[in-house]
Amino acid sequence: MSKFIIQGQAKLSGEIEVKGAKNAALKIIPAAILSREKITIYNMPNIEDTDRALELMEELGAEIKRTNATVEIQIKELSKNGISEKTSGKFRASIMFAAPILARAGEVKFPHPGGCVLGAATRPIDLFLDGFRAMGAEVKEKEDHYHIKAKKLNGCEYFFTTVTVTGTEAMMMAAILAEGNTVLKNCAMEPEIPVLAEYLNRQGARIIGAGTPTIKIEGVKEIKAGKFNIIPDRIETGTFAILAAATKSEIKITNCNPSHIESLLSIFTKQGIKFETGEDWLRIMPPKNITPYNIKTHEYPGFPTDLQSPYTVLATQANGSSLIHETIYERRLLFTDMLAQMGADIIMCDPHRVVINGPSKLYGRKLTSPDLRAGITMIIAALIAEGETEIDNIYQIDRGYEDIDGRLRALGADIKRIGTLL
Ligand code: EPZ
Repeated sequence: MSKFIIQGQAKLSGEIEVKGAKNAALKIIPAAILSREKITIYNMPNIEDTDRALELMEELGAEIKRTNATVEIQIKELSKNGISEKTSGKFRASIMFAAPILARAGEVKFPHPGGCVLGAATRPIDLFLDGFRAMGAEVKEKEDHYHIKAKKLNGCEYFFTTVTVTGTEAMMMAAILAEGNTVLKNCAMEPEIPVLAEYLNRQGARIIGAGTPTIKIEGVKEIKAGKFNIIPDRIETGTFAILAAATKSEIKITNCNPSHIESLLSIFTKQGIKFETGEDWLRIMPPKNITPYNIKTHEYPGFPTDLQSPYTVLATQANGSSLIHETIYERRLLFTDMLAQMGADIIMCDPHRVVINGPSKLYGRKLTSPDLRAGITMIIAALIAEGETEIDNIYQIDRGYEDIDGRLRALGADIKRIGTLL
């Protein structure tokens, strides 16, 4: 496995470009299954998770042509209606293949999705299975996989008892080719959802309300070719903004959409962290001191759970105590042990809350990245820390951040990628 070696406290400055949103790309790729015609995707990030998603598409019989950040996909005929454990076990978003295969082939077999070990011990998919049942599908839960059949999916009214991003996107895709109309209630409103709906509508789907809690879909017989331009990754944008503030560096973040991280920027204002914004850029000014601020993660447009880990590093540099309340996942604060090992003053109140007392001096350590957001958090902590930090299992970081070491070296970071045999 490869690892990163980082010498902390290098002076950082300059510009960093945000790539296409991982959590948009991982839905737009399987959405190509819904059409027999060619789908062209622009601004595709070059990361492990999208590589796995494209490998899954090839397993399903897709012809794929990739030129840098532009990908053309076409599935004239599905070669099979199942996805293998081999690839799907590597990322959670493999679950996004179930709905379009079911909608197109009337049957799908898939293992429990893999990826980060967040949420309950296994990432639940009960809301997907209940949704497919509501549309008339027969769901069989086998020893190590699910087998779902439906000659035809029927429109339905479905209320999500928990707000779920991928659940909302999956049901939206399943409903596009269903018989009749579907009303989805208590939907997620992340920006990637209305963008997906807008492009599917350009292909002939009939979706209204995406981006609001209620989405209505009128089933159609088929959808045509489409072109998708993937929006900037708002979690990369927020991560780099936090990195700049935590390392007290002046950094301009380009090719981004500042309005997608309004929750973070509103908190920066309360913390005395100054910034300037343009239509597609954000410049963070180095803060003299950082006022602590309590955060509580929440579905969009609230503070995103994916920025909670990086934000905890910023909290270690604030002048005072911050309460971090993670409301979405059960295990997403476990990584704070690593920050404590580096010298942070952290009290774990319960699995959902930590109190961080700052400012703390951080020291380099040997670390292993448990998931991609904790992984990038380790990099930010290492950039602040005195001495050398070694981060193992960086596949988890490469899952979601394209050429992260190259982009950080361009800012002046002393970070090396060391390939190891095992
Ligand atoms: C998406 O995951 C993102 N992943 C996650 O980003 C993100 O953290 C999450 O949304 C919340 O914003 C992708 O889009 C690929 P959920 P998702 O379903 O859809 C529970 C990253 O780092 N739930 O919104 O899987 C679930 O356990 C990743 O890029 C059920 O109980 O998250 C969680 O507590 C990490 N049953 C809550 O809902 C279900 O059937 C919200 O999860 C589905 C979800």
